[in-house]
Amino acid sequence: MCGIIGYKGLRNASDVVINGLKRLEYRGYDSWGMALIGSDMNVVKNVGKIGEVDEINVGEAHIGIGHTRWSTHGKVNKLNAHPHLSCDKKIAIVHNGIIENYQEMRRYLISKDHVFVSDTDSEVIAHLIEEHMKTVDFVEAVRRAVNELKGSYAIVAMHKDMKYLVGAKKDSPLVIGVGENELFFASDVPAFLEYTRDVVFMDDGELAVLNSGVEIFDIETGKKKKKDITHVDWSAEQASKGEFEHFMMKEISEQNRTIKQALSHSRDTIEDIANRINNAFGIFFVACGSSYHAALTASYIFSKIAKKHINVVVASEFPYYKDFLTDRTLMMPISQSGETADVLQAVKTAKEKGTHVVSIVNVVGSSLYRQSDYALTMNAGPEICVLSTKTYTSQLTLLTLLAYACAGKIDEGKLLLERVAKEVEELTSPETRIRLVELASKLKDKKNIFVIGRGVNYPTALEAALKIKEVSYIHAEGFPGGELKHGTIALISEGTPCIVLAPNDETREEIISNAMEIKSRGGYIIGISPENNEVFDFHIKVPDEGIASSILNIIPIQILAYYLAVLRGCDPDKPRNLAKSVTVK
Ligand code: G6P
Repeated sequence: MCGIIGYKGLRNASDVVINGLKRLEYRGYDSWGMALIGSDMNVVKNVGKIGEVDEINVGEAHIGIGHTRWSTHGKVNKLNAHPHLSCDKKIAIVHNGIIENYQEMRRYLISKDHVFVSDTDSEVIAHLIEEHMKTVDFVEAVRRAVNELKGSYAIVAMHKDMKYLVGAKKDSPLVIGVGENELFFASDVPAFLEYTRDVVFMDDGELAVLNSGVEIFDIETGKKKKKDITHVDWSAEQASKGEFEHFMMKEISEQNRTIKQALSHSRDTIEDIANRINNAFGIFFVACGSSYHAALTASYIFSKIAKKHINVVVASEFPYYKDFLTDRTLMMPISQSGETADVLQAVKTAKEKGTHVVSIVNVVGSSLYRQSDYALTMNAGPEICVLSTKTYTSQLTLLTLLAYACAGKIDEGKLLLERVAKEVEELTSPETRIRLVELASKLKDKKNIFVIGRGVNYPTALEAALKIKEVSYIHAEGFPGGELKHGTIALISEGTPCIVLAPNDETREEIISNAMEIKSRGGYIIGISPENNEVFDFHIKVPDEGIASSILNIIPIQILAYYLAVLRGCDPDKPRNLAKSVTVK
């Protein structure tokens, strides 16, 4: 889940690497480091966030690599931060992924007199390349080294005496940016978006050399390959904070636009996917985190609107369902990044069974995008904050539209969602935000927050709790309205906050009576609802949009979670221990 960058060009490499790392920090931020080749190999490493660094004086260099870490092997300290060096200090590597056979490699390399200085799995790569360089040149040494690795990797390596970079990829993301007289490696496109929008998406098993141009080779055979350059239409402005203090609030505020963008697919495209759903024998929605909550919400919407049963499975659990898969099953992975390792593993499982894969994905060119039989894009632009906000509602929008399309009511669905987009704008207005700051100041010192919802708003309760806890570190739990009383109600005491999602639908009466049960035990009831009710101690008014209420109900909670984080002094964009793109299983 770490972020890696490599640069070769005419600019000051240190500036490019630092900028790139700042943009990649959402992938990991416990420590960072870079290596630059100037008159010598200069290495800088530090514990903490790169975002806190202004500039670093390491002299003139035009070739360099950098890394921002989310630790898997070895504690967070300077020694374990990347880049890692060979014994002769001529080779530097950065790595994202997990080397599964590193212990065996390490033992072998120690027997060959290599000296290790870190506890990481990654360091073996630098020494292994060095070992191979006893007999072959640098590029071939990297190829042979990575060919011996088991596990997942995106690697960029450089050698003090060579004026080029070598990168290799297997099961971890690595893309190449092609600018004028300059080339980039990065974990993700936003890292170099301010310099170029021309991208080569590397596939697993490929090795690339960035010299005067890009050369790609097959890792196993060493044979040269031809790859196309893709022009991406994301802009650098989309990946910057603009007038906002944090990406989180910027992305929350963009949702009126991103919902419309999700609706911009042609009728033919949506109907084609609806047909695939209607003709499938068994449908699985597969996702992680917030995307899983969107999928779960959609299962209620499909049931109500399209009368279709959808199996919703957390991606890491999907392989255990493989006995249900056939070539008539439809698997729909849902993922913002398109790089979540568990989702990609699930796709592998499905493909082994001949199952058709239609994904919903935001990042064009991502592994999921390329591995799917068809990829329906969210069109939300880059999402930088670690927490998913705008892409969650984009997923809900697309899934709702698909449910309507499956029922032959695409126009009705589109009208509803266009109205919702307008209403979302009001919900993110300064007036609503002031009210939510008021609520956040009441809740900021609480130990627990509970959220309840029923039907289509039960998964919204799960997502609401996730948003609150992951960014403010206040313990929060979401429940179906009927379930809290089967245990957790024991934790309700005087003033315990409980958020109640109470739309004007078939769930209203029962969820209000669940709220009563909590209130009678001292709970402080926050109602998110089109109408006020005497049980609410604090009411947040949301428009009444029936089956689309889950899109509207999450907006005030995203804003509340943001202010809870800010008031508690937490960084909303980079919550501790989290990474946006979870590329390890
Ligand atoms: C991480 C992120 C979540 C996200 C989940 C799934 O845990 O922190 O915000 O929902 O991954 O990511 P995906 O890119 O597959 O939607």
